[in-house]
Amino acid sequence: MRKQVPLERLLFLKQQLGFDAETQELLKSHGVILASHKEDFARYFEDFFRGMEETRPYLEVQEYPGQLQDIWKRWFEGIFTRDFDQAFVGWVWNSGMTHVRINLDHRFVNLGYCLARRFCIQVINSSIAPEERAEAMEAVEKTLDLCLLIETEAFLASTFQCDSEVIRGIAHQIRNPITVIGGSIMRLKRSKEITARAAHDTYNTILAESRRMEKMVQDVSSYNEVFHSQSAWSPVLLQEMLQEVLDECRQRYPVVGLDLQTGYAPMARRVLGNPEEYRLMFRHLLANAFEAVDPEKPVISVQTSLDPGTAMYVLVEIFNTGKLSGTYEMETLLTPFFSTRAMGTGLGLPIARVVAQKVKGNIMLYPVAKGGVVCLASLPRGDLV
Ligand code: HEM
Repeated sequence: MRKQVPLERLLFLKQQLGFDAETQELLKSHGVILASHKEDFARYFEDFFRGMEETRPYLEVQEYPGQLQDIWKRWFEGIFTRDFDQAFVGWVWNSGMTHVRINLDHRFVNLGYCLARRFCIQVINSSIAPEERAEAMEAVEKTLDLCLLIETEAFLASTFQCDSEVIRGIAHQIRNPITVIGGSIMRLKRSKEITARAAHDTYNTILAESRRMEKMVQDVSSYNEVFHSQSAWSPVLLQEMLQEVLDECRQRYPVVGLDLQTGYAPMARRVLGNPEEYRLMFRHLLANAFEAVDPEKPVISVQTSLDPGTAMYVLVEIFNTGKLSGTYEMETLLTPFFSTRAMGTGLGLPIARVVAQKVKGNIMLYPVAKGGVVCLASLPRGDLV
């Protein structure tokens, strides 16, 4: 769920804050001194947020050591040395979108801005001539306020957009089963003589549609829960969890003659995240494979490995024979309420993706040339903690 940068609105906010050409000039003239403290600033941020239990995990799942320090350093330098042009405003906007995607509590971002303010006051008081401190401080205040406003706009837009898409999706999806149930009841009511067979068929239709709605309510609640909840992370044993969920699926979706292949890499024993959310994610991914497997040639394979691109991540590859019905873009398949199955809710894969993105992982789904579909989950490695 990506949203375009609303440049016009952001420039309006900039104007409302009184951030004008003079402010930009003042920033540039004092900015060199402030920006020269970027390394100290990034270290200060890292130490502070590593010291908090709620934010420490984000520093533990970086794609490379020091990734966040680099981001914070570049941001701190950028606000004092770059123009607040389209590219820079867009970058700050993206930080808000990213913070929502990884489910960072917005209060911690606010806290970050308070710390940045405090840090700047110290630098101004120690490094800028007393007669220039007031103007420097005013320009810094405006910059930080503007960044926070842009970030908050993105944060709200992203959260609101997601919620309203879900609400719209529910309204749309519920219309079909309600129409079918209503129509079936009307037919029963109208028929003077109804055979036991016809009544039985109608009851089955009503039951199937109400089960579909029940499943949708369940999936919508899960989606909402994972999207909004802040959850504690710990190392999770991957093989054990995958085996448990595989056993559940075999019972739930019996497939005659299933060839189930598994391979677990010893280096990828643990992933970092919330165990219950991971269980939910694997339930949906594996249920998807069991439901979609080709009944003529049923093969499902689950393999884990270290990500060849970065040893900080683990890959879980779930393959099933069968093909994707239709040629859909991966983004479409991962969009809430999109389903290729008549009775699917279209929330399984989106739930799995939200779980993965919260730990800075991802889910991809693609057809394989020799036949079959691969679902690839990239998840932060838990053996490093
Ligand atoms: C003043 C406060 C903060 C600022 C200005 C800020 C700024 C940014 C920026 C500019 C990005 C890059 C966005 C992009 O390129 O798409 C980013 C990403 C990110 N931020 Fe923040 N951030 C702040 C607070 C925090 C806090 C408190 C945490 C958690 C400890 C955090 C965690 C992250 C993470 C995990 C990413 C994603 C990195 C990636 O690309 O994998 N941020 N932030």
